[in-house]
Amino acid sequence: MPIRTFDEVDPFEIHKLTLASFGWAVPESRLRRQMRVDPRVMDGYGRYFVERGRLVAQVLPLRMPVRLTSGVETVGGIAGVCSLPEVWGRGHIRRLMEHVHQLYRQEGIRIAALTTSRNIRGYGVYQKLGYVDLAPFYRATKRIRARPSPPRGLRLRVARARDVPRIQGLFREFARPFYGWTERDPKFLGGEQIWFDRAVDRFRLVYRGGELVGYLRIIPGEEDFTQEYVLRRFPDFRASVRAVEARTRFGFANVAPLTAAADLARFRRLGYDIVGPTPSKAMAIPLVPTLRPQDLPRLFGVPQGRFLLYPTDAF
Ligand SMILES: CC(C)(COP(=O)(O)OP(=O)(O)OC[C@H]1O[C@@H](n2cnc3c(N)ncnc32)[C@H](O)[C@@H]1OP(=O)(O)O)[C@@H](O)C(=O)NCCC(=O)NCCS
Repeated sequence: MPIRTFDEVDPFEIHKLTLASFGWAVPESRLRRQMRVDPRVMDGYGRYFVERGRLVAQVLPLRMPVRLTSGVETVGGIAGVCSLPEVWGRGHIRRLMEHVHQLYRQEGIRIAALTTSRNIRGYGVYQKLGYVDLAPFYRATKRIRARPSPPRGLRLRVARARDVPRIQGLFREFARPFYGWTERDPKFLGGEQIWFDRAVDRFRLVYRGGELVGYLRIIPGEEDFTQEYVLRRFPDFRASVRAVEARTRFGFANVAPLTAAADLARFRRLGYDIVGPTPSKAMAIPLVPTLRPQDLPRLFGVPQGRFLLYPTDAF
């Protein structure tokens, strides 16, 4: 059997494969951390294709709850797809993906999903396997000719580890009207919690008059780019955007990624230009005969403008 699980391969071979494919590799200790703390991980962790004794391709099957128009259900989320460039085109990824689809079916999972870019070879490979586009991603941008003064009565505080359940609670309330990646574990802050030591540093809790009203995310070192404005009330949202604009350094404020119509509308309302669709894509495939590929976008709320996949939930 050329397809193995984590315990049947040498983790340094995984390191070399990801280094050759992505240009980065994660230490074995991080992979083991993911197995310990990530509720999305499945038994056996990754699936690895071995050709003449050499590890040449991998797929990381995850499972995650999403909200569909039919209710919350577990879908398969596929991550870490790669193969050594010298074996591209030999069908190893197709065989790994089909194997993972079968694992999902055995667990009663009806849909597999992934995120990719139209820019890369993977997009065509996934299409050939039967994946269809779920949702495009957009960005918002505004030229800041004169930085506004910071809004009164609003305070942004760097989050700490003990704030994670609060962040997740704020998100749960905010995400109620949306579909897609709206369901979060109260303690797990997404993949970044595994790959970065201080992922929680990206979160800024927003207080108005002492009351916690939401959060947003910054990218360390790139404060003119912000993400994930989880603020339910428009005045709090407007004030938070202004707090960020008050700190911009290069004459613009950028926000990404955005998928939901309500998100696009509230940034437009504050004078932002929407750019996109970007090359990024969320894709999905039905794993059971009762679902048709063309039904998937509606099931995830895409044409209704209510699809959500924020960076914290990226996989
Ligand atoms: C994307 C990647 C995993 C594809 O791997 P691969 O080893 O070429 O995949 P396979 O050989 O299994 O290809 C599957 C099928 O898609 C076909 N295919 C390849 N490129 C294609 C394209 N651009 N359009 C349509 N079909 C394509 C293959 O011919 C193959 O057909 P078959 O099933 O009839 O044999 C590989 O290029 C890679 O590791 N890239 C770098 C990392 C990366 O970008 N990962 C994706 C992150 S989302």
